[in-house]
Amino acid sequence: MLNLHDQHESPLAPIPENELSDEQVLVELHKIKEELKDKVVVLGHHYQQDDVIQFADHTGDSLQLARDASKLDKPYIMFCGVHFMAETADILTKDDQQVILPDLRAGCSMADMANRDDIDQAWEYMLSSTSEKIIPITYINCAATLKSFVGDNGGSICTSSNAKEIISWAFKEGEKLLFFPDQHLGRNTCFDMGISLDEMVVYNPNMYRGGLTPEQINKAKVILWYGYCSVHQGFTASQVEDLKKNRPDVKVIVHPECNFETVQAAHDSGSTSYISNKIDASPAGSKWAVGTEINLVNRLAQKYPDKEIFSLSPYQCLCTTMYRVRPRWLLASFKAIKENKPINIIKVDKKTAQSSKVALERMLSIK
Ligand code: 13P
Ligand code: SF4
Repeated sequence: MLNLHDQHESPLAPIPENELSDEQVLVELHKIKEELKDKVVVLGHHYQQDDVIQFADHTGDSLQLARDASKLDKPYIMFCGVHFMAETADILTKDDQQVILPDLRAGCSMADMANRDDIDQAWEYMLSSTSEKIIPITYINCAATLKSFVGDNGGSICTSSNAKEIISWAFKEGEKLLFFPDQHLGRNTCFDMGISLDEMVVYNPNMYRGGLTPEQINKAKVILWYGYCSVHQGFTASQVEDLKKNRPDVKVIVHPECNFETVQAAHDSGSTSYISNKIDASPAGSKWAVGTEINLVNRLAQKYPDKEIFSLSPYQCLCTTMYRVRPRWLLASFKAIKENKPINIIKVDKKTAQSSKVALERMLSIK
């Protein structure tokens, strides 16, 4: 359950940090982080704002952060990212470690597009529509209850870094794929692997029986869930076409959460780490239009002043939920640990965690 509160209030309790200026908050954070360095490790996703990411001991994409979380030994893991990432970390860490999300409102709108009841209902309908074996694959951007569904039903989790390998594995295990919640990652990856668009259908949980007949389900190779990332829908194929016409010297690289037409029009696509590594390896003078969240694009532009790096979209494609993690809330969370009254702990119940772990470990063992 997310804790709703005003931007100027603390995540859980009134905080004296409100009296500090933004600069003072950063100074205090440097001090307290050093003071608690044996107790607290900070993880930060690439989309976090610079004032937060500077405190991260580990940065990365979703896959890297999940791997890092499984190897940590400090008692507190401060997760600067979104709710599903903190849940994943909790599932992969030991029982006596505590994962903290500095602002409990930091969710993911795509993850909210699939819930356990809808998935259970869809699954039952799909099983009754075909005798072929369906393997469920969930993008890591989902609630733990969905990860546990996948663990209990012979499936796996994937991230944008390993979707191809996980889908290849799934087709060795069964004949059909149910991929949720992101239709775009599913479609883009399957198409890349040689599956044609007419072998894919979209199940829309807002429609009666997903808007699909049993025949359509039986005929399809891939059933995609009607979910998407609203941030990445800000990038369009026409933006790519315009750039190709007006700036043929610029390479376009996008995240696979962008829609099919945009990914097809772009020169390249991949996870946040793939994008970072590709730009890192490009020679000085390279020019890149990047289709992903603005904090990462701006950071890359600052890091490589010898390259021209800008957002593919003229509008700011900001993940507002990632942005909810502010230095002020980070400081409040550190102070609460110092006082032995930790706040904003993310704890997945034991049963859900056990089944989710099966699916996560399956993923980590494949790639
Ligand atoms: P990555 O796994 O590529 O970091 O993506 C996470 C995410 O939420 C992208 O919107
Ligand atoms: Fe979720 Fe999109 Fe934000 Fe990623 S960018 S965390 S998918 S809302």
